Amino acid sequence: MEVIRHPDAMSAWARRQRGERGLVALVPTMGALHEGHLSLIRLAREQAEQVVVSLFVNPVQFGEGEDFAVYPRCEEADRVLCEQEGVTVLFMPDAKDVYAEDASVWVDEEQLSRGLCGASRPGHFRGVCTVVLKLFNWVQPDVAIFGEKDAQQVRIIERMVRDLNVPVEVVRGPTVREADGLAMSSRNRRLSGLQRSVAPGLYQALQMAERSVRDGEREVGVLVDEVRGALEELEGVVIDYVVLVDDVSLVEIERVDGPALLAVAVWMGEVRLIDHFVLGAG
Ligand code: PAJ
Repeated sequence: MEVIRHPDAMSAWARRQRGERGLVALVPTMGALHEGHLSLIRLAREQAEQVVVSLFVNPVQFGEGEDFAVYPRCEEADRVLCEQEGVTVLFMPDAKDVYAEDASVWVDEEQLSRGLCGASRPGHFRGVCTVVLKLFNWVQPDVAIFGEKDAQQVRIIERMVRDLNVPVEVVRGPTVREADGLAMSSRNRRLSGLQRSVAPGLYQALQMAERSVRDGEREVGVLVDEVRGALEELEGVVIDYVVLVDDVSLVEIERVDGPALLAVAVWMGEVRLIDHFVLGAG
């Protein structure tokens, strides 16, 4: 496996690969790799001959007072995992090479970013879209893999690719969960033992709503209250949001009459966790 740190070297590598050694797949990450990330790498390997994993804790997608400084970093372990997974290139740029000091152009998605995490974390998706477009430009992948885990993020990236005509195919990878249902996340490492034991309650709350829909409940108000009620029972959990929106437009709905995204975000102490289910999909 090759490790590349400078963006110019990354672009030069990408140009050499074009047409020479088959398709290139990109898996963007912020590191602290877990089975969720590895599942995306395996999916990438099924889709393309060359797999580039990027590892960059992107400062501009973190707001003031968010967890940029304490975001888990374990470069060496990540490097070993990528090597074991047969990754072709691990791209780990320095922030100074990613952003010009006087950078003044940003990618702003204006519809899908309004609610959910976009409302709680102003500027977050602007940071995500900007860095992902930069990664696309350097790596020039044929395929890019994003996890369903970050439901709003993957929908926004798909919209950016459509609206800016980026020549890449976005592929979604399913959410990988721990045995007790907790969605894997780099941030889970920051949970205390007690918080970790309570955290699967998020998944259980979503499952409850799924059962209700299956049993015929369609009223968004009722379903959201049910999930809120279940989350409020959990010790040390503070709700950021519980929303049930149209799965494509992410606009609020009153009834579940087609695919709908039930998304939750909570705080457990300093750690923010998100999860979601798609309901009413058939
Ligand atoms: P990060 O949180 O490291 O996630 C990298 C990729 O892994 C994302 O596409 C995310 O959806 C996916 N992922 C995370 N947990 C997962 C799980 N349990 N199952 C399946 N996939 C999972 O998302 C980011 O980084 C950043 O915002 C990034 C896109 C890299 C831009 O900086």
